[in-house]
Amino acid sequence: MAPVEALTDHAERCARTLADAADVRVVTHDDADGLTAGAIAAEALDRAEIPASVRVVDGLSTDRIESIAADGGTVWFTDIGSGQLDAIAAQSDWTPVVADHHQIADASIDAHCNPMLAGLDGASDLSGAGAVYLVARALVGSEARDLAAQAVVGAVGDRQLVDGELVGANAAIVDEGEAVGVIERTTDLDVFGRQTRPLPQVLASASVSIPGVLDDPATVTAWLATHVDDPDQRWADCAPATRQTIASALFQAAIERGVPADRIDDLVGTAYTLAREPDGTALRDAAEFATLLNATARYDESEVGIALARGERGDVLDRARELLETHRENLSAGVDLMLDRGTTTETAIQWVDLEDAVRPTIVGIVASLARSELPDRPIIAFADDDGDRKVSARGPARLVRAGLNLGVAMDRAATHVGGEGGGHDIAAGATIPAGSERAFLDEVDAIVAEQVGGAEGGPAD
Ligand code: C5P
Ligand code: C5P
Ligand code: C5P
Ligand code: ZN
Repeated sequence: MAPVEALTDHAERCARTLADAADVRVVTHDDADGLTAGAIAAEALDRAEIPASVRVVDGLSTDRIESIAADGGTVWFTDIGSGQLDAIAAQSDWTPVVADHHQIADASIDAHCNPMLAGLDGASDLSGAGAVYLVARALVGSEARDLAAQAVVGAVGDRQLVDGELVGANAAIVDEGEAVGVIERTTDLDVFGRQTRPLPQVLASASVSIPGVLDDPATVTAWLATHVDDPDQRWADCAPATRQTIASALFQAAIERGVPADRIDDLVGTAYTLAREPDGTALRDAAEFATLLNATARYDESEVGIALARGERGDVLDRARELLETHRENLSAGVDLMLDRGTTTETAIQWVDLEDAVRPTIVGIVASLARSELPDRPIIAFADDDGDRKVSARGPARLVRAGLNLGVAMDRAATHVGGEGGGHDIAAGATIPAGSERAFLDEVDAIVAEQVGGAEGGPAD
């Protein structure tokens, strides 16, 4: 469990600061990782009998940090804050605690838990919810271990899987969740929707294309009919023998149709199941749970997401399911629009402006989902955002290995045009003033060209 131990000191310092507080205001980020991070924080404080409130924000501008600090007291930033550590450190007469995994601004504070402080990768070794989980464990001990389930949902929601599975400190947290029976990990097809969706949609979500088989739900349905009795059942309902039949037939088809061996490997991944949740619900699969959470906060109903992540059901779950319908439609329409419109290619990047056709809160998810279709260069997507422009950047792993760091590129280029940005090497974002897009793009293009040097374009991995 070395990756977790490397952060013990940082987690313990955060926990001591929280334990000394009369009450704590939790400020968290508005995506699945942020909601699970906020939920773990609230549960841990509750168990430590420290009164707490939770507020969900879409970002932290310097103005917002100043106004939060002005109210004084102890504020726990979760899945957010490291990128704005300079602004946080500059305030006085309050006690900030930060548990996050974003790239760290040039400053330090006493109570800060971030995988990068221990040389771990913030995009794959530990999520924001994971960083909060480590603090929760330092605060309330083994009583926090059931919260590993939420930490896994956060990591999966942030797409931290490497070759289909969680690694590093995330994997250590999975071990803890398995030990207390809240998480099960199984090798499975690397697909989305195992619990709630019918087989054709599930198989069509695989990132591998097998011509004539895994093209779209229609070809999958036709192919499935030759292998199973009921092609419309859900993956979770299939008998183990049926799943085995389908998986073997898929591998066979892939080999026959000449799919390269390394792409065939991509058919396989790890399923993270929330063992205590009901069968056949989105709550039981970590990826589906994460999507359900995204469907709340990205539509201004973050309180629904926090309650759901803390274990509330009933009306809260009904509302989340309603929101999910809209979210799915929006994502699907957003990806179609992005691919129809196509990207404009610069030296080192490609970009597309989705204007007001895609909400600023989901343009990043749309760019992530479209990324496998646009593998040559990092994608920069713009959307209108309340008079400003929201920017989301996503890059191929191959270029990250060659030096790409979109978090640095977004931070520098946004600052250059009077905006704010940051994030991870592989996925980052910014908000910039309307009208500054061209200057911003030129800056990003120059920075990325320098980062990746002569790295060749080519298929994503
Ligand atoms: O703010 P936060 O760190 O929670 O958001 C991470 C974002 O980065 C998510 O939108 C996630 O989809 C994206 N990401 C990605 N590919 C990765 C890692 C993260 O698209 N390999
Ligand atoms: O099948 P469709 O493209 O409509 O799927 C959209 C929905 O599936 C969204 O809710 C999206 O978040 C989710 N999805 C995902 N990861 C995938 C595939 C789909 O989160 N790999
Ligand atoms: O918003 P989007 O999903 O594109 O964000 C990708 C990553 O960049 C997330 O980790 C997000 O927290 C980060 N980001 C940031 N500063 C911004 C916008 C996004 O650090 N202004
Ligand atoms: Zn996160």
